Amino acid sequence: MPSNDKLHRAKKQKNDEFYTQYADIEKEINAYLEYNPDVFKDKTILLPCDDPEWSNFTKYFAQNFERFGLKKLISTSYAADSKPKGIPYQPTLFETKDPKYDKTKTRKHGKIFVLERDTNKDKKINIEDLEWNYLKGDGDFQSEEVTKLRDEADFIITNPPFSLFKEFFKWVVDSGKHFCIIGNLNSVTYKEVFPCIKGNRLWMGATCFNGGATYFIADPALYEPEKMSNPKHAYIKDGKFYWRVNGIRWLTNVDHGRRHQPIPLMTMSDNIKFSRHKEIKNHEYQKYDNYDALEVSHVDAIPSDYKDVIGVPISYLDKHCPEQFGIVGCSDNGLIEQKYKKPHFKRHNEPYLNGKKVYKRIFIKHKEPK
Ligand SMILES: C[S@@+](CC[C@H](N)C(=O)[O-])C[C@H]1O[C@@H](n2cnc3c(N)ncnc32)[C@H](O)[C@@H]1O
Repeated sequence: MPSNDKLHRAKKQKNDEFYTQYADIEKEINAYLEYNPDVFKDKTILLPCDDPEWSNFTKYFAQNFERFGLKKLISTSYAADSKPKGIPYQPTLFETKDPKYDKTKTRKHGKIFVLERDTNKDKKINIEDLEWNYLKGDGDFQSEEVTKLRDEADFIITNPPFSLFKEFFKWVVDSGKHFCIIGNLNSVTYKEVFPCIKGNRLWMGATCFNGGATYFIADPALYEPEKMSNPKHAYIKDGKFYWRVNGIRWLTNVDHGRRHQPIPLMTMSDNIKFSRHKEIKNHEYQKYDNYDALEVSHVDAIPSDYKDVIGVPISYLDKHCPEQFGIVGCSDNGLIEQKYKKPHFKRHNEPYLNGKKVYKRIFIKHKEPK
């Protein structure tokens, strides 16, 4: 790999060492349980990027093992030596307390943590009963041994490394299992991701991280305000470094109630009369220069009585109800059928309106009443 690429990769990898807050996990998982209280009953969950010393995913599911009726919880971690240099590392409590702890192995090998029985005989199954061992390799999710664990599991849940999002997404989807992972909203238009959204095999989670932004937690040694694009978006509290990231979403194929609630909408003429958006009120709706679709820049201004294709911002997906609208395509990568591309226009990778580029769009169409 050329040294510039290596540097770029190392920089990206540093952004992998951030951890999800317990409350964010709890809110999302609660929504699945509200919809189906038995969703995890007798199921095996794999958390493939999760060292219990750091991961709130492992803590959350281990603490709720009995309440959810889980069969087995597996959490795997990634070896210290495989992480970029400069990532602080101490051996975890789990290891050092245990006679199998081996200083050399611990830097080179990933670990597996399993919870399925009451090991300490206190008549409860919880985090105290986690059993651990070294993996053969470094715990890379794509390795044969972690892929085997994936195939054994019913659910794959985690916040994966940001630098490997596409690879991770493919790995999860290829398994055909239920999953719930954290990613960036922009990823929905990737050519690897969008077909799943269009095919109703993937959707946004039930909770939207406080308007789409959340604070991830990291080791304070990683705090370099001068290197952050916005230093105001980070702070240190109680020995932890909190880093604000925008545009974060849950991506899942686990069903929940929010996605079955249709968006309340007005007719086109009522929008023109009453819309709270100045670009809609007293204006005609317009079609794109390059797509046979109506531009609607606000989700609440989608006309209830327009039967053809409508272009909306990608944040529409937070409110998408598959019984109300079908997803027809998206502007990125030309991921829309030829028949909706106006042939006189050469470019179909981004939407144009009156000769000006507008931000990327998802194209939707009202479902025909059954
Ligand atoms: C964004 S962090 C999230 C950690 C944890 N899942 C959480 O949400 O708190 C991603 C984690 O994946 C680990 N990781 C990086 N590359 C990996 C790989 N190839 N296989 C497995 N884990 C990896 C990183 O070391 C990091 O701990």
